[in-house]
Amino acid sequence: MKLFRKDGELIEVVAYPGETVHKGDYLMIMDESKELGLIVQVIDFEYIEVPGLLEDVIREGLFRDSIYIDGGGKYDRVTSLINDIKILKCKIRGAVKNGKLINFIDDLPSRLSSEIYRISPNQLLNMVRGEVMYPVRLGRDMSGNEFIVDAFHLDGSLTLITGMKGSGKSHLAKLLAYHFSKLGARFIILDINSEYLGLSEEDGIIVLEPGKNFIFDIEYLGKETLINVFTNILGLPSVSVNLFGEVWDIARNRNEKITLDLLDRITNLYIKNLMVKDAIIHRLNALKSCRFIGESTTLDLNNMFRDGVKGYIINLRDLSSVEKKILVEILLSKLSKLLEKNVIPPFFLFAEEAHLYVRDTYWEDVVTRMRHFGLFMIFITNQPDSLGHMIFRQLDNIFIFRFLNDKDLEVLSRISAVDTDTVKSIVKDINRGSCLILGNVVSDMPVVIKVDKLSFRALGETKRIFQFTCS
Ligand SMILES: Nc1ncnc2c1ncn2[C@@H]1O[C@H](COP(=O)(O)OP(=O)(O)OP(=O)(O)O)[C@@H](O)[C@H]1O
Ligand SMILES: [Mg+2]
Repeated sequence: MKLFRKDGELIEVVAYPGETVHKGDYLMIMDESKELGLIVQVIDFEYIEVPGLLEDVIREGLFRDSIYIDGGGKYDRVTSLINDIKILKCKIRGAVKNGKLINFIDDLPSRLSSEIYRISPNQLLNMVRGEVMYPVRLGRDMSGNEFIVDAFHLDGSLTLITGMKGSGKSHLAKLLAYHFSKLGARFIILDINSEYLGLSEEDGIIVLEPGKNFIFDIEYLGKETLINVFTNILGLPSVSVNLFGEVWDIARNRNEKITLDLLDRITNLYIKNLMVKDAIIHRLNALKSCRFIGESTTLDLNNMFRDGVKGYIINLRDLSSVEKKILVEILLSKLSKLLEKNVIPPFFLFAEEAHLYVRDTYWEDVVTRMRHFGLFMIFITNQPDSLGHMIFRQLDNIFIFRFLNDKDLEVLSRISAVDTDTVKSIVKDINRGSCLILGNVVSDMPVVIKVDKLSFRALGETKRIFQFTCS
């Protein structure tokens, strides 16, 4: 490879035939005489344009193929090699001077004498980041070297996994959860397709089935949580909410266990305004029909991460849309309180297509306030535009799988830390199971990897008709 020129932001490198380079690869352009090395990343390539080349290409083709020219002719090997020369379009990602990384680049390596060689993303990251404390092997880079991140950089942060349908998002989420459990990090997965259940084969990971082993009683939920559900999910007007508060207080003074039936009776007895009475009874009935509201609480959330439990998979698949929303509202409302009071340790929350069951205004709370108390979101979506601007601005880590649609790519380019050219050029060309990683976890050095296979039985693979017809 040879350094060709600098064109604005881009460094162009000539790659000769036989020098295989992939999009996303890192190159070191090392000028030993100046002790200066430029770290660049290949974001695109094209064939070299030399005047008269088209004519040469045509002539060569004709000579090579005896159908056209009898007896062949002089075969010009140099021209043939020139055909295969590529120009690599590269972005500067950093530089080393006298063996140290520098941020300010005030010189360029020599075109004549620089040596250009590939460096693996892990070699690069080892230069930038400190010692890896919590290694997580995510896969291999495009040259097959293993690629390891430090889970420490996912801690305390907001992460997005996105890509088109079937590109490998949930697969990566499962791999992350698996590694978290091995490192002792806590997590909760909101599983809308019952596809994470295979993880429960690992020690300390429990599946919660609403209505079976995941039930709350009303007294456990308490006044504040119920009011949150009524206001935010079931749309109870504020006057009725106030009166419901009074109903609860009356029930509280009764010295008996608070149940939906008791609240129902008190509402009927004390609320005189028919509209308000109807409104409250209607909401109480909505709660009665939720399969996860019952006689007694099966899991005290205060103790949820005790006795070696690292992760929960909450199976939301069979719940109706309203049930999903109510359950998630209850959970977030309860868990945020427990985190604030330091009753439970910090944890990751994996949320697939979260816009389906978390109301918009919760985003701000989860992403800004609750983050300080230790709730770290990992959003997984094939519709990046379903997440608001505010979330995009605050993302720390992004895993982008294949996307072909320009509209989705435009949305991603709103993410401040990302340079649009890199994303657009690389993401369209990666295969299923490979992704582009951006953000803290790669020290802001975009990296393309092929994600590892799972070592446990993964559920949730898309079912196909022909799978079932052969046996
Ligand atoms: N790195 C990988 N290695 C092996 N198989 C993979 C890999 N990534 C994905 N797959 C397989 O590809 C299929 C689709 O992957 P996955 O379910 O993760 O896609 P998805 O992006 O979550 O799709 P959807 O948008 O439909 O949820 C699955 O059968 C999965 O097992
Ligand atoms: Mg998925």
